[in-house]
Amino acid sequence: MPKKIKKIGVLTSGGDSPGMNSAIRSVARTCAYHNIECVGVYRGYEGLIEGDFKPMDARSVKGILNKGGTILKSARSKEFRTKEGRLQAFNSLTNAGVDGLIVIGGDGSFSGALVLNQEYNFPVIGIPGTIDNDIYGTSHTLGFDTALNTVVDAIDKIRDTASSHNRLFFIEVMGRDVGHIALNAGIAGGAEEILIPEEDLGLDRLVESLNRSRKSGKSSSIVIVAEGDKIGKNVFELKDFVDENLEDYDVRVSVLGHMQRGGSPSCFDRVLASRMGVKAVESLLEGKSNYMVGLKNGEMKLTPLESAIKGKTKINLELLRVSDIMSI
Ligand code: F6P
Repeated sequence: MPKKIKKIGVLTSGGDSPGMNSAIRSVARTCAYHNIECVGVYRGYEGLIEGDFKPMDARSVKGILNKGGTILKSARSKEFRTKEGRLQAFNSLTNAGVDGLIVIGGDGSFSGALVLNQEYNFPVIGIPGTIDNDIYGTSHTLGFDTALNTVVDAIDKIRDTASSHNRLFFIEVMGRDVGHIALNAGIAGGAEEILIPEEDLGLDRLVESLNRSRKSGKSSSIVIVAEGDKIGKNVFELKDFVDENLEDYDVRVSVLGHMQRGGSPSCFDRVLASRMGVKAVESLLEGKSNYMVGLKNGEMKLTPLESAIKGKTKINLELLRVSDIMSI
C-alpha cells in the first residue's frame, strides 16, 4: 500500500518556459484544496540537494498566473548526476517530511526524477515544461503556444521592414533539435520557406524556392530556420551562400534567441498549466508515480515517464504539406 501523501514538493528544472508559474500556482492551490501541504523547491535539483525549500499555500502563488519565467528559478545540477547528490536530495526531502515530488521541465529533468524514484522509491510526477514541444506523450508542452505567438509577432514585425526594402530575411528560431516552433510559426507568419532538422531540404531546394518566389513576383521573402537545422552550419552561413549565389537578393539575418522563452503565458498555456497541476497532484494522491501528465486529444492523460523521456514527437506531415502549398 503506497504511503499516504501529506506534503508535496514542486520544482522547475531545465530551460524555463511561459506557463511554469501557472503550473506552480495550480500545484499549490490543488494541494490547498485537498488540505495537504506544499513546498516550493528553489533552483531545481541544486536546491533539492541543499534543501532550499519554502512552504507554499494558496496565497503564496497569487499574482504569478500571468508571469513568464519561474518564481522557483531553474538550475542545471551536475551534483544530482551523482549518487551522493541524489542521496542528499532524498535526505532533504525526507527531513522536510515531503512525500511526493512534481517536476516541471523537459526530458532531462524527468530523467532525474526517474532515477530518484528508482533509487529511493520516491513518488514523482512530471509536468512537461519547455517551449520546444519535443516531449512524447503530450500534444502541447507548457510554453510552446506562447513561444509560437512570440515568434509570429516577431515575423510580422520583420516582414514590415523586409517588404519596405525588398529584402530576404533568415530568421532563426529555437527548438533545440526539433522543428515544431519553426514549422508552426512559419505557417502562421507566412514564411516563404521553413528549414527544419526533420526535413533535409538541401541548399539546391532553397535556391529553387527563392527563385520561384522571385519569379512569382515576391519582392521580399522570409525564411524560418530552426536552430537545429543542419542545411548549413548556421543561419549566417546561409546568408553568405545566398549572397554568393543569388546576387539580386539583399539578405539580412535575425536570431530571435531567448526572447522566445519569455513573456506572459498565453490563455492556452495558462489553462493547460492549471489542468496539468491538478492532474499531477491528484495522481500522486491516488498513489501513482513515474508518470508525466500530458494533453492527448484534448484530455489530461498520464504517460509513463520512461516513454516520455525516450519518445520523440514527430513532425506533423500534414502541416509540412500545408507549409509547401502556402508558400507557392
Ligand atoms: O529547451 C529550450 C531551449 O530554449 C531550446 O530551444 C534552446 O536550444 C535551449 O533551451 C537554450 O538553452 P540555454 O537557455 O541553456 O541557452
